[in-house]
Amino acid sequence: MSDDLPGATLNPFRVPSGPLGRLAGWVMGRDDSAHRQVLGLLAAKTGACVCEIGFGPGQLLKLLVARDSAVQVCGVDPSPVMLAQAHRRLSRLGAAERADLRLGVAGALPFPDRHADHVVAVNTAAMWPDLQAALVDTRRVLRPGGTLLIAWHSARSPRRIQRTLAQPEAWWGETATALRQVFGNVERHDLTYTTACTATAS
Ligand SMILES: C[S@@+](CC[C@H](N)C(=O)[O-])C[C@H]1O[C@@H](n2cnc3c(N)ncnc32)[C@H](O)[C@@H]1O
Repeated sequence: MSDDLPGATLNPFRVPSGPLGRLAGWVMGRDDSAHRQVLGLLAAKTGACVCEIGFGPGQLLKLLVARDSAVQVCGVDPSPVMLAQAHRRLSRLGAAERADLRLGVAGALPFPDRHADHVVAVNTAAMWPDLQAALVDTRRVLRPGGTLLIAWHSARSPRRIQRTLAQPEAWWGETATALRQVFGNVERHDLTYTTACTATAS
């Protein structure tokens, strides 16, 4: 995992563990403004399967199951603390049975080929050790016509710490190039609280 993200205070947010990790999950769970904007980029298709990589405390998963009572969600996160928090969040909404959440990392998704209509990664892709390998594995999991969405804090995010974490244009350039190489296409979305790139599987 790269260590070049600014801000030592970010550490408990990388792979949250122990009491500090639980606190980090609580902090992340207080603000879903960026996740709401990400949700708006995901075409609502009743009964779709959405896979989230690095779901953290489950903010986006919560919005997904609330938007569509038939959506199926699945995903991976390497943190047992985040797995427990996300599971609790979905259970509170009565959606645990529609969720297949597992411990795991980007690049080794434990799901079959053509499993998902969308794969989403919010505020996590800059932490992955091998973006290219992760994209290739993501493409495997996507159905034809399915989309991958990678989002990260924007310089206009609501909290100061989030704004300081906004990635430089060079990172977005590298990410767009990698997406184009694997998917053959890429689209950029500059929203208020988040910056995102999407790519569609052929
Ligand atoms: C800053 S949190 C963001 C969580 C959530 N996506 C959100 O927006 O609230 C980063 C998350 O990525 C997860 N993560 C870290 N390294 C990862 C990897 N290699 N593959 C998948 N997830 C990873 C962490 O465990 C953590 O839950």
